[in-house]
Amino acid sequence: MIFRQLFDSISGTYTYLLASRRGGEALIIDPVLEKVERYIQLVDELDLKLVKAIDTHLHADHITGLGALRDRTHCITVMGERSKVDVVSMRLSEGDKLTIEGVALDVLYTPGHTDDSYSFLTHDRVFTGDTLLIRGTGRTDFQNGDARAQYDSIFNKLLRLPDETMVFPAHDYKGETVSSIGEEKRFNPRLQVKSVDEYVDLMGNLKLANPKMMDVAVPANMRVGLAQDEIARRGWALSAPDAMALIGRPDVAFVDLRERAEREKHGTIAGSLHTPYPELVENVAPGGMLHELACATGKRILFYCAFGERSAMAVRAAQDAGLPSACHITGGIDAWKKAGGPLAR
Ligand SMILES: [Fe+2]
Repeated sequence: MIFRQLFDSISGTYTYLLASRRGGEALIIDPVLEKVERYIQLVDELDLKLVKAIDTHLHADHITGLGALRDRTHCITVMGERSKVDVVSMRLSEGDKLTIEGVALDVLYTPGHTDDSYSFLTHDRVFTGDTLLIRGTGRTDFQNGDARAQYDSIFNKLLRLPDETMVFPAHDYKGETVSSIGEEKRFNPRLQVKSVDEYVDLMGNLKLANPKMMDVAVPANMRVGLAQDEIARRGWALSAPDAMALIGRPDVAFVDLRERAEREKHGTIAGSLHTPYPELVENVAPGGMLHELACATGKRILFYCAFGERSAMAVRAAQDAGLPSACHITGGIDAWKKAGGPLAR
């Protein structure tokens, strides 16, 4: 596995880059806006293709690099389903898997530091966000933090992992880089409590100042959705109700860009083709399946995904590849469901 731990010294944030091989797909966890150029450079140097950018939670101490990475690399943005972020390309919940080529991370919902805190687990390491830090735990006094929930996340989820599991947190302020579950169990001073009440008491008496960036970072991190005005202005976007009227039309091909697990979990629009977003560029290029389908049959290509981000990026790629009829469903399956659109399983 290719694994890099990157550090932002201003906010004390760790960012992680993972891939299974040179030349393969990569994902990045908790990127910081000011470091985006560095990440892109490293991805190029390691000959990787960045396909997913994930935040463990809505950060209060730095502005996320999610939106900038998506705009620069056309990767997709990922957060947990509980996050108050306006739009990300994909949302995950407990029990889901965060996957790229050759890498699969289990998604654990670990609230407490915030109510949208998630951890990501692979066979030998866990990315704990600010739920479990090295010899510390994330504060629980804002963003719907809850010390009781955090105790449960830590004691009943994270500390039940094998002792040798490596712990990679989202922050460290003392230069520690990695720990293990066994080490934190024994030496983390916050975890040497006898009861949940004792933990709640401890967390309630920390008297910490708010992060300097909080008033800027939290609002900024809630608005990372892709700007879609231009796509709508050009007439490349259909509302879910307008798209519903096109079901069964022989001159329209609905194309689902989501992953198989998302399709199984949330359902699909009956009769649609399935082209996962990472394969899109090949598919819309001359010689690609969608390109040839559109040219040979004159069908209008109507992309959709979970929330309308992958499909908006797909419209641009298809238009650039010479498919002037390509359009997408604004807001994706989420908007489709809210409009009462029928779903097949
Ligand atoms: Fe945090």
